[in-house]
Amino acid sequence: MDLVKEIHRLKKEKNAVILAHYYQVPEIQDIADYVGDSLGLSQKAAETDADIIVFAGVHFMAETAKILSPKKTVVLPDLNAGCSLADSCPPEAFKAFTEAHPNHVVITYVNCSAEIKALSDIVCTSSNALKIVESIPKETPIIFAPDKNLGAYIIKETGRNMLLWDGSCLVHEAFSMDKLIELHKKYPDYKIIAHPESEEHILKTATYIGSTAGMINYVKQHQDQKFIVATEAGILHKMKEAMPNTELIPAPAKEDNTCACSECHFMKMNTLQKLCDCLLNESPKIEVDETIIERALLPIERMLELSK
Ligand code: 13P
Ligand code: SF4
Repeated sequence: MDLVKEIHRLKKEKNAVILAHYYQVPEIQDIADYVGDSLGLSQKAAETDADIIVFAGVHFMAETAKILSPKKTVVLPDLNAGCSLADSCPPEAFKAFTEAHPNHVVITYVNCSAEIKALSDIVCTSSNALKIVESIPKETPIIFAPDKNLGAYIIKETGRNMLLWDGSCLVHEAFSMDKLIELHKKYPDYKIIAHPESEEHILKTATYIGSTAGMINYVKQHQDQKFIVATEAGILHKMKEAMPNTELIPAPAKEDNTCACSECHFMKMNTLQKLCDCLLNESPKIEVDETIIERALLPIERMLELSK
């Protein structure tokens, strides 16, 4: 069967929309109606008039789409497509943490479960984190979770004193500083660009730090330059598509990493076959408890409002 044709047929028949993250395999990015970063994807999920949202990304992203569009059917090609960062923040422990620090505004990075969002005052993504933190009055103490690397970057940029949750992304912590230095010695005219989930020593080497969409835009605006790209390697697909003549090298990962570059195995669980099956069967569906939706919606809406 021609999977691409079948997906197009099913999409039309069922009035479905396919939203895909930049870390998805190229064939999924190519068939998607929209490819974007976490903020762009949640904005699309909130405004779509499709009946079914096929979310080609990871669980927390599909869950965010369900919270924003609870009446719609939201399907994820592989229900096991989780996120190490979201997993590093279990709801019970986080609830105890917030209760131990009352009077703090709770800002959570979108890479967390719906239960964590329900315990938050406002959500942010990597593309609006600085703006969201700066929207909180200076004297107000802040809890920031779950990503300690993004949190440390925000503290450095804004000078805010935030209490950080000890979470991180395995993919962005897999970059090898030694190999990066070696690579940069070999290619000294390449600029390093990095996602803020990376560790501080990696970020210190970067000319530009931003979300996946931010990194793509930066490369687009500097097509005469060459880049070493420190984020999940799936991002190179859109960069190469838009800028075929720009020289790009994915940042190298540590020796024990399964891939020479950093790949998110959760993101790579989705395949074109699974996407076709989930559209056909309208399963696996994302279900979120109604009371959690009620509580998680406001902090996400606050973020969307501040991101207009
Ligand atoms: P972006 O919002 O920058 O696309 O990041 C999502 C993500 O999971 C990064 O690891
Ligand atoms: Fe989660 Fe990291 Fe994968 Fe992004 S790259 S989805 S933060 S595990």
